[in-house]
Amino acid sequence: MARKKIIAGNWKMNMTPSEAVALIETLKPLVATEDADVVFCVPAIDIIPAVEAAKGSNICIGAENMYFEEKGAFTGEISPSMLTDAGVKYVIIGHSERRQYFAETDETVNKKVLKAFEHGITPIICCGETLTQREQGVTIDFIRQQVKIALLGVSAEQAAKAVIAYEPIWAIGTGKVATTEQAQEVCAAVRACVAEIYDQATADAIRVQYGGSVSASSAPELFAQPDIDGGLVGGAALKPDFGKIVNYK
Ligand code: PGA
Repeated sequence: MARKKIIAGNWKMNMTPSEAVALIETLKPLVATEDADVVFCVPAIDIIPAVEAAKGSNICIGAENMYFEEKGAFTGEISPSMLTDAGVKYVIIGHSERRQYFAETDETVNKKVLKAFEHGITPIICCGETLTQREQGVTIDFIRQQVKIALLGVSAEQAAKAVIAYEPIWAIGTGKVATTEQAQEVCAAVRACVAEIYDQATADAIRVQYGGSVSASSAPELFAQPDIDGGLVGGAALKPDFGKIVNYK
């Protein structure tokens, strides 16, 4: 069976709750499709109004982060059951900005991925190399390491439902999108790595996104690649252009 595309917006630290509602109202008719899963990953404080605003539409609301403990003395953190109770279906785990600014590591990513599955939340697991790593020729090795650690202890059945977002750090927010060949090469390597860890059926089921300066003009060619099952979109997810990205065909 062909994999359904998944196109997710990563709002990052943008949009107040009232702005979030207005943006969802604007985008709702523009992202209506049955051909792809459409996810808006929004700031924690926007989740409840966003879920409300998205009701009756095809938009699923996701979170941008989550903690790996159930509850307790972790000031400022959000637990998995807080997310599910609010209506969240997806969570971005290990975005490079969280790794860079908030000390996220492959180990915390793995703990969060396991916890998300425990609660029936689909993780969108981020991986991606720096420009230096690309220039050093270690991109694939680095990505494989990130993917392998993120999936430690995850069952094949769970992994089949996961989403992995390949986001080269040098392409995030820079307007410098990876070439179609670069994006396809790494997404294929991610899938091959999943086949190695599990089996071909799991690799055929898992969805691999490309992220990094995806725009209405770059999306059609990127998403037509055999191993690219959609995108994780930052800047362009805050504009009506997101409708064009979702309906890229
Ligand atoms: P960008 O962000 O589309 O603005 O490059 C992508 C991301 O960080 O997920």
